[in-house]
Amino acid sequence: MDEYEWLKRRVKLITTDNPIYKKINSENDYISTFRPGAWTMLKELLLAYYAPQYITILRKRDWINELCYVDLFAGSGVITLKNLGKNYLGSPLIVKYAIKKNFDKYYFFDNDEGNINQLKDLIQDKDSSFFYGDSNIEIDRILPELSKQGVHSLIFIDPFATEIKFDTIRKLSNIGCDLMINVAAEEVKRAVDQYYSQNWNTNALDGFFGGEKWKTDLANIASDKEIYDYYAQKIVEEAGKKRPSSTTIYKTLNGHHYYILFTSTWGNGERPKFFNIIDDFNKHIENIDGNRMMKFIENNIENDNTLDRFADDKNEKLF
Ligand SMILES: C[S@@+](CC[C@H](N)C(=O)[O-])C[C@H]1O[C@@H](n2cnc3c(N)ncnc32)[C@H](O)[C@@H]1O
Repeated sequence: MDEYEWLKRRVKLITTDNPIYKKINSENDYISTFRPGAWTMLKELLLAYYAPQYITILRKRDWINELCYVDLFAGSGVITLKNLGKNYLGSPLIVKYAIKKNFDKYYFFDNDEGNINQLKDLIQDKDSSFFYGDSNIEIDRILPELSKQGVHSLIFIDPFATEIKFDTIRKLSNIGCDLMINVAAEEVKRAVDQYYSQNWNTNALDGFFGGEKWKTDLANIASDKEIYDYYAQKIVEEAGKKRPSSTTIYKTLNGHHYYILFTSTWGNGERPKFFNIIDDFNKHIENIDGNRMMKFIENNIENDNTLDRFADDKNEKLF
């Protein structure tokens, strides 16, 4: 299948082919967490691609009897994109309504009460729990449950920038879980640069890196990638996790990017099998950045009520 067909199919699953997409676009009063660039759609596509295959693989482990999804920065369930008008599925709606596999339990956290109330409204089922407040603190309420034998979790950590504290990651080092962390390298690097150039307040960075050592370790860094590498190394050395794998989300192919880091408590040194899902995804999106995604969405969703037009466009350039 060529990239065009692949992207078309994947986008349809989380938009026009999806009843919840129709629902959130038929009424106007949904709150949208924020208005990121179109690149954010790649992150949602990744989650929609990863989660069902991950579930399939983990269901084969007979020592797991409860598989959980934990979303520590869940948002409102609805996102809108900069300069575009439609509502799209945020991570909670992706895992609940855009994939064909189920987790046994879902835990959603956000520190915005409006977001949590909207999520409760959109997701009404007995398997989901909602927590309003700082997830670095509120997570303590579910750690006993997640630590039980036979329980395993996929924990999605998707802050704007430095809101996830490294102490929270450390808390997760001893429980059966896999982490999917949005490492917003561009924003973190900007904050680091501000510290060096203007002696900016560093509380948030100290929390993010779990101490002050970063002040010396990062003195000579020049790129977003080095921020990611530093964080990935900390995950291995200080949080007892496997060497991470990642997807790079390019805002522009030559410019800023952020990383979705995957890591695991799985196995004894070997690379978890489900990391192959990430490799597959990466091959499909390697030439797609925020600008291309923007054009794609604009042409095929925002200005069209249906994706049928894809069929006629086949021989035209995709982006
Ligand atoms: C990038 S958005 C999440 C988007 C969502 N994961 C999605 O894919 O649709 C970050 C969210 O984290 C929330 N947030 C920020 N700081 C937080 C904290 N300390 N604890 C819990 N939620 C927080 C914000 O209210 C916002 O909704």
